Amino acid sequence: MSDRRRFVKFSLLSGAAVLAGKNLFAKTDKGDRKYDVVKDQPIVISTWDFGKVANAAAWTVLKKGGRAVDAVEEGVKVPEADPKNQSVGLGGRPDRDGRVTLDACIMDENYKCGSVAALEHVVHAISVARLVMEKTPHVMLVGDGATQFALENGFKKENLLTPKSEEEWKEWLKTSKYEPKKNIENMMPGGKDNHDTIGMVAMDKNGNMGGACTTSGMAYKMHGRVGDSPIIGAGLYVDNEIGAATSTGVGEEVIRIVGSHLVVELMRQGLEPEDACKRAVERIIARNPEKAKEVQVGFLALNKNGAYGAYALQKGFSYAVKNGNVEDVFFAKYFYDDGK
Ligand code: GLY
Repeated sequence: MSDRRRFVKFSLLSGAAVLAGKNLFAKTDKGDRKYDVVKDQPIVISTWDFGKVANAAAWTVLKKGGRAVDAVEEGVKVPEADPKNQSVGLGGRPDRDGRVTLDACIMDENYKCGSVAALEHVVHAISVARLVMEKTPHVMLVGDGATQFALENGFKKENLLTPKSEEEWKEWLKTSKYEPKKNIENMMPGGKDNHDTIGMVAMDKNGNMGGACTTSGMAYKMHGRVGDSPIIGAGLYVDNEIGAATSTGVGEEVIRIVGSHLVVELMRQGLEPEDACKRAVERIIARNPEKAKEVQVGFLALNKNGAYGAYALQKGFSYAVKNGNVEDVFFAKYFYDDGK
């Protein structure tokens, strides 16, 4: 099926979903959204429908003339603190041993970056990543070292495993099957989860960019597994000359192609954000088409002109946008329709 036919088919399907009341929040993406650009004005974009409230928090920083990197940190702290969001921060689904381990990274306009992986007991992984960036000579701290660093720097030790996530994990233990391909159906409109990682990128009133990415990772992963989200270049990349990109979905597929860096480099070669995201998705498909049919990956990008775009392997990937013109959620275009 051609991309065009696939997209038309999707448009009809998403219209039907809206009529069925399954998903009233998101609009079908009309393509690379240059027409929404407000010149010399801030903008923030983020993955999934819950990105809308996260963007609103980021906007409180941007509208006061604050830095993009400060805005994205404030923004992603919203889903991190939300116990109902089972893919980020507090209430995140645990690994197969019942431990909630968080991955996060942040990057500013000067290639400064910080990251934590397999962090435990601290809600705001993004702020720990920020502190790694600001206060250490390193880029990344992992596991016990990350947790120790956070606690030594005044972060509160908390139990992140909510009763709901614990109950679901105990149910999962009965079969103990790790099936990230289920991620596809969970991400569909009306699906059980309909979301995963939050990745957020922004440009401030001075034209400087920043990005943040935070997640509890794939549910029931092996203890110690690290996904794309805390890996600079995979889950997030910011190049202040060109633009910024972030990703969501099955992290292993993103790491293999260093996805967010690839998207930024494709924009450097002149591609618009949506086309750059599409090319990265096609790279994943070219590597292993059979695997690509089974999993979800979505990319989201913003260029230096304030134009933005997204593309996903499967339908169901939504993203939120806030600038002086737009405050809305859109569905990305996608390659496969139900893995076909
Ligand atoms: N993208 C989130 C993860 O793979 O952990």
